[in-house]
Amino acid sequence: MSEKTFVEGLLAGRVAFVTGGGTGITGGVARALAEAGARVALVSRKMEHLEPAAEKIRAGGGEAFAVTADVRNMEEVEKALAATVEKFGKLDIVVNGAAGNFLCPAEELSPNGFGTVIDIDLKGTFNVCRAAFAELKKERGQILNISATLHYTGTPLQLHVSAAKAGVDALTRQLAVEWGHHGIRSNAIAPGPIEDTEGMSRLVPAEVKEKLRRNIPLGRFGRIRDIEQAAVFLCSDAASFINGAIIVIDGGQWLSKG
Ligand code: COA
Repeated sequence: MSEKTFVEGLLAGRVAFVTGGGTGITGGVARALAEAGARVALVSRKMEHLEPAAEKIRAGGGEAFAVTADVRNMEEVEKALAATVEKFGKLDIVVNGAAGNFLCPAEELSPNGFGTVIDIDLKGTFNVCRAAFAELKKERGQILNISATLHYTGTPLQLHVSAAKAGVDALTRQLAVEWGHHGIRSNAIAPGPIEDTEGMSRLVPAEVKEKLRRNIPLGRFGRIRDIEQAAVFLCSDAASFINGAIIVIDGGQWLSKG
């Protein structure tokens, strides 16, 4: 497969707002949307993550713009969205990838630790969707949320993230129903273990990694590219009747008892 996406030009003319867009899975998604022709706003708390990612997209011939916002803060989200619309003229696609994670046993998790992850993952997703509604409605746009598979089974040390992502799934389906009438599609991707991500290096201890890989029916970890391709598809007209779907991309891992 070429380094460029298989869907070059599929998103020509679209404008995307990608939170967490500088690094990891969502960094890849932002780049892939740009390769498919979208103009992309990369959004996160830290400009030092965003600007190099935006520069890389521009160097590859795409259009990208870096803007800081903490998704927990509605005022900052509204400002970043307004800046994106001012720069690119409209908004078609929102990708909610900003997330927080750490490993912690439930009995040691503080209320603020629990709330912080809920605020970033779940409330942040709501904030961005809510603030983007009017612009998405104008363009009959799309929402793509990045969820997880952790909450399909019990995942030790991940109570806070599992609860947040279960909420993201509910929000995805709710908006599919409530905003589908406006032509706005709402879908999610649930990635399994993806190599070369902060999540894998920081959250999966080395001794667990090989066991985890052996438990994946397809025999390998996912690649960021696997998520990118699905994201481009879901944001494109090729997926025009897909609404309220949560697409699991994990090589069959969560179904496998190992
Ligand atoms: N174990 C237990 N509790 C933790 C923790 C850990 N490893 N890390 C943070 N917390 C708790 C803090 O103790 C605090 O609670 P307290 O006030 O009761 O002590 C609460 O979470 C908030 O922590 P703080 O560091 O103030 O939050 P923040 O807003 O600066 O950072 C995080 C947010 C916690 C999600 C941080 O890990 C982060 O910014 N991560 C980078 C992004 C990321 O995780 N991406 C996901 C990649 S998979």
